[in-house]
Amino acid sequence: MPTTVRPRRSALYVPGSNPRALDKAGTLPADVLLLDLEDAVAPDAKEAARRAVVEALGRRAAFGRRELVVRVNGLDTPWGHGDLAALAGAGADAVLLPKVESADAVRRARAVLEAEGAPSDLPIWCMMETPRGILRALEIAEAPAVACLVMGTSDLTKDLHALHTGERLPMLVALGTCLLAARAAGLAILDGVHLDLADAAGFAAACRQGRALGFDGKTVIHPSQIGPANEAFGPDAAALEQARRIVAAYAEARARGAGVAVLDGRLVEALHVREAERLLALAAAIAEAGG
Ligand code: COA
Ligand code: MG
Repeated sequence: MPTTVRPRRSALYVPGSNPRALDKAGTLPADVLLLDLEDAVAPDAKEAARRAVVEALGRRAAFGRRELVVRVNGLDTPWGHGDLAALAGAGADAVLLPKVESADAVRRARAVLEAEGAPSDLPIWCMMETPRGILRALEIAEAPAVACLVMGTSDLTKDLHALHTGERLPMLVALGTCLLAARAAGLAILDGVHLDLADAAGFAAACRQGRALGFDGKTVIHPSQIGPANEAFGPDAAALEQARRIVAAYAEARARGAGVAVLDGRLVEALHVREAERLLALAAAIAEAGG
């Protein structure tokens, strides 16, 4: 199963309408910047935000190795078509579509992008944030050019008439469904935001939960959330040491002609080696990107 080794531990929403935040984003240690034209931007600021984001993409050296992804407005809004047209040749690493509910929605957005001259392999990321979208997660994940799913847990909580709770039990079915779809299709997947900026302990717990579930990283809304997300979703020193030992033990067993190894009294099989190698590759990619 293909897995990404590109670090996406933290993905910061940056309102396209906030020039100060756009400038600051190039100095922050987020792996991904989600330059936002949608929910974070008021209707009367939409056009100016679009211009500011296209201008920011034009000076991409200022953003270093950070992955630059633009969240556009939906095609059912007055701005969606114009957003896609403006982004077609702007140099974003991916376009993030809001409220995706079908593979057809992905196809319609791609048709606009390609008609406006975008490369046919421009990656599409999809917000998973409506009941219908979650129920069609696999269809969406398998649509052409889709590379990453992004959980929109605020919209989903609202649509479900659910509550924001500490353990996020109301979200678990949707989170798990989208994880299954993303991994089945070989995509990356990012967890939703934690709205309470003052709640560092709750944020850390949500990161640990997201990591345990299998997410590649967490979407964040404020610079203070980047460090804890990077820590939670990056492999720690003990996990890396264990990964190296697993790879070595298995190689040694194979050299003896055995198909499995025993390390510290535990069975090591090929599947454990693949997961260890994925962690080591992720750590190498994080180190190469400057930590
Ligand atoms: N991206 C980049 N920079 C950000 C930022 C973000 N999301 N949020 C805050 N900053 C910057 C501020 O501009 C400020 O920079 P400065 O030191 O150069 O002045 C610094 O970080 C400290 O910010 P702070 O004063 O603590 O917060 P704020 O009051 O400026 O902003 C929010 C608070 C919530 C309005 C802001 O974090 C935000 O807009 N977040 C994104 C919201 C969003 O995108 N929602 C839609 C998706 S859920
Ligand atoms: Mg939303």
